[in-house]
Amino acid sequence: MTTIFSVLDVEKTYQVGLGPRAGLFKPRAPRLLKALNGVRLEVAEGDSIALVGESGSGKSTLVRLMLGLEAASDGRVLYRNADINSFDEQARRQFSRDVAFIYQDARGSMNPRMKIRDVLAEPLLLHGLCTESEADQRVLDLLAKVGLSADMAWRYPAELSGGQVRRVAVARALAAEPKVIIADESVAGLDVSVQAQLLNLLRKLCREMGLTLVFITHDLGVASYLCRRVAVMYLGRIVEEGSTEDILHQPRHPYTRGLMRAFPSFGRPLTASLKGEIPSPIDLPRGCRFASRCQDARDECRELDPVLTSDGQTRRVACLFPLTYSATVQEGGAQHVATGSPVAMAPAAVAR
Ligand SMILES: Nc1ncnc2c1ncn2[C@@H]1O[C@H](COP(=O)(O)OP(=O)(O)O)[C@@H](O)[C@H]1O
Ligand SMILES: [Mg+2]
Repeated sequence: MTTIFSVLDVEKTYQVGLGPRAGLFKPRAPRLLKALNGVRLEVAEGDSIALVGESGSGKSTLVRLMLGLEAASDGRVLYRNADINSFDEQARRQFSRDVAFIYQDARGSMNPRMKIRDVLAEPLLLHGLCTESEADQRVLDLLAKVGLSADMAWRYPAELSGGQVRRVAVARALAAEPKVIIADESVAGLDVSVQAQLLNLLRKLCREMGLTLVFITHDLGVASYLCRRVAVMYLGRIVEEGSTEDILHQPRHPYTRGLMRAFPSFGRPLTASLKGEIPSPIDLPRGCRFASRCQDARDECRELDPVLTSDGQTRRVACLFPLTYSATVQEGGAQHVATGSPVAMAPAAVAR
């Protein structure tokens, strides 16, 4: 498969406020927040990948870098093997047509004074995809594609429900006939029934149009429904990546397992396995950044910083002691059971 996006050891550091004064006459140094800390990711053409993690893990920052909206502090982002920060005018125009973004705040991303007809006609006219006289028909086609009636065209964003406004955001993303859709928390905060309708719509459109999808969500359930691959992020790093099926059946990073257990499921008592909250990325701890919340952390975990390592197949994990599974044969077929304590896999780590 052709690689469409390559994120190569990307770092993103922000300066935030001033730290404590080291001495009476010493100036206060600016504090550095590492929003992304060595992220490496490849997205193949036609693939669908979910970036999953708690709020503050760096998902939106990674997406802003992939869209070229911000520059990386270090490392590079390539789109079809070209650095997105060195595009010439023509490549930039092609990129903005090829790669559509669905914003986290769909309503806020639309001009409240523009009717939906104009919201959808704008990208069509901007990219020269139709004339002004053809725009009305193209807008109606787009509305139909996302399951909205024609009368929506004459409404303002404020007159639409949460689900309808997200459908308009999908229609606007499709207007320029993109190859890639990047969506940030596009179904978060909706009623479950509306969320399910939107997920079905996105899945159908991606399949029919052969789109590549990068979908940001804090919800592993949503990720598993929509995407073939999952990358789990924690404090500016990818800590586990692999096929959705592998990750959901046999998570190898304790954080992934914690995320899965934290989801309420019908008829199952909730075991809140993730203690506390994601720490601040300003003063990162020594060793593994997840150690403070990991129920399996050992002394080594507080000293060594694990590197994202491939298992030789399709999975990458950043853990000194990833979870392992042993097959136990039961009546009716084989079932995999997580061993109680994690067993060391050739640890790859750096002391910090
Ligand atoms: N422009 C910015 N200035 C300072 N800090 C930022 C900025 N953007 C993001 N951050 C910080 O970077 C970290 C990652 O944020 P973000 O990418 O929004 O995470 P997510 O989308 O996973 O919730 C957070 O700690 C956030 O506060
Ligand atoms: Mg975000």
